Amino acid sequence: FQVPPAKNEPVLTYAPGTNERTELKKQLEAFRAVEMDIPMIIAGEEVRTDQKVSIHPPHELKHCLGHYHQGDEAHVHQAIDAALNARPKWAGMAWEHRASIFLKAADLIAGPYRQKINAATMLGQSKTAFQAEIDSACEFADFLRFNVQYMTQIYGDQPSSAKGIWDRVEYRPLEGFVFALTPFNFTSIAGNLPSAPAMMGNVVVWKPSKTAIYSANILMQVFREAGVPDGVINLVFASGPVVAREVFDHPEFAGFHFTGSTEVFQSIWKTIGENIQRYKTYPRIVGETGGKDFIIAHKSCDAKAVATGMVRGAFEYQGQKCSAASRAYIPASRWDEIHSEIKKQLGELKMGPPEDFTNFMNAVIDEASFNKLEGAIKEAENHPDAKVIEGGGCDKSVGYFIEPTIILTTDPMYRTMQEELFGPVLTVYVYDDMKFDETLTVLDKTSIYALTGAVFAQDRYVIEKVTKRLVNAAGNFYINDKPTGAVVGQQPFGGARGSGTNDKAGSLINMMRWVSPRTIKENF
Ligand code: SER
Repeated sequence: FQVPPAKNEPVLTYAPGTNERTELKKQLEAFRAVEMDIPMIIAGEEVRTDQKVSIHPPHELKHCLGHYHQGDEAHVHQAIDAALNARPKWAGMAWEHRASIFLKAADLIAGPYRQKINAATMLGQSKTAFQAEIDSACEFADFLRFNVQYMTQIYGDQPSSAKGIWDRVEYRPLEGFVFALTPFNFTSIAGNLPSAPAMMGNVVVWKPSKTAIYSANILMQVFREAGVPDGVINLVFASGPVVAREVFDHPEFAGFHFTGSTEVFQSIWKTIGENIQRYKTYPRIVGETGGKDFIIAHKSCDAKAVATGMVRGAFEYQGQKCSAASRAYIPASRWDEIHSEIKKQLGELKMGPPEDFTNFMNAVIDEASFNKLEGAIKEAENHPDAKVIEGGGCDKSVGYFIEPTIILTTDPMYRTMQEELFGPVLTVYVYDDMKFDETLTVLDKTSIYALTGAVFAQDRYVIEKVTKRLVNAAGNFYINDKPTGAVVGQQPFGGARGSGTNDKAGSLINMMRWVSPRTIKENF
């Protein structure tokens, strides 16, 4: 069999007067009118507990969207058992039937569930309609459709055989269960981390970020309606340490699919290392972690393109994309021109709740994030090597709002030129035009992370030089474009160094991690 070639889901605009805007508004109102009751899903059963945790939009803390049911050790254990019970039938199912389920899930997301998943992401994670559309609807549908295509490529990759012999490779799922620990910032990634391994015949225990359970609930509805059998993907809500104890102690833990902080990933990797002798098989560890994504402009750049790249790259979704620009290196001869263009663009941006479609920016995800960002801004206001030149306002009276903020520093080693903040704060270092090479050296040296980066230049020798010199500083490198907005099937996404295992979300490389091949040689 062959599956139809994957195509990217066309992005809807939500412009005034469009049907999609009317439908989305209706869905937002419908969600606001009820308090949703969100159970865990274990072995296909809805599981409720007496520990209910309420959910509030980050931009409107007094409104209650509903609550989820918090589980404990026993629930995680049940989820692992459910997965392992489902494994023999699921692993034995012919691939085209698994493919069919996930192609249907893509059609559901792009069709009847589109406005549900977008509205849930807008309300629960404080994303604009457009940012929700490119993430939860389009990127997730793309992940599903392209991954099905990569799956068929994997199964089709067979060795050659000598005369009288038939050599073949069987791409088995991993022997055990996969644990998916998913982030708040992309609903598409939250959907991809459990579905990619499941597609390859694996069974999954899935713990979403507690700040994205509202949309995870819709994703789970899609999986179930698409026909993912009971027990294949189990959705649990329990605290990190509780889940970790059950999952990483289990002899049949076989794979970990993660997007989140570097700190959490490293601590989990250590736990896995300490437990390595317990496991039946070496677990696959696939993770995308932090970033300190950069923009470097050369004096030959187009100033307006740099300013647009900085504003959109740093402030879309409040700078909470893993790919968001958070440090910029700008030549002194072009700074005034670039700064005044940034000022102009920032002057046109509005901040507020996502239900008002004219807002470009909404709230940051939670209080911890708000406090961290506010702290960094305050520190810059009082530091001799830094000053806040744009924004800086922080207000949590209604929701966790932080203005788009630019810190200008005279020190390329300044704290926020190196540390990830994960919010709408961009630090700029203006370098002497004569010191371009030294600036590249500092940039590379401070790239503890290596997720995304962008160079803006018109001089082709410069573009070539930067591309070579920064070869390991970014897994996704952009020339004359902002460092965000990678599209599945076009720019496979992921980074190395402190940013992860670089297994590229939505790619053949990633899908290969979820199989354990068996080679069979048969003599005739
Ligand atoms: N596609 C996103 C970006 O590049 C990450 O998933 O911003």
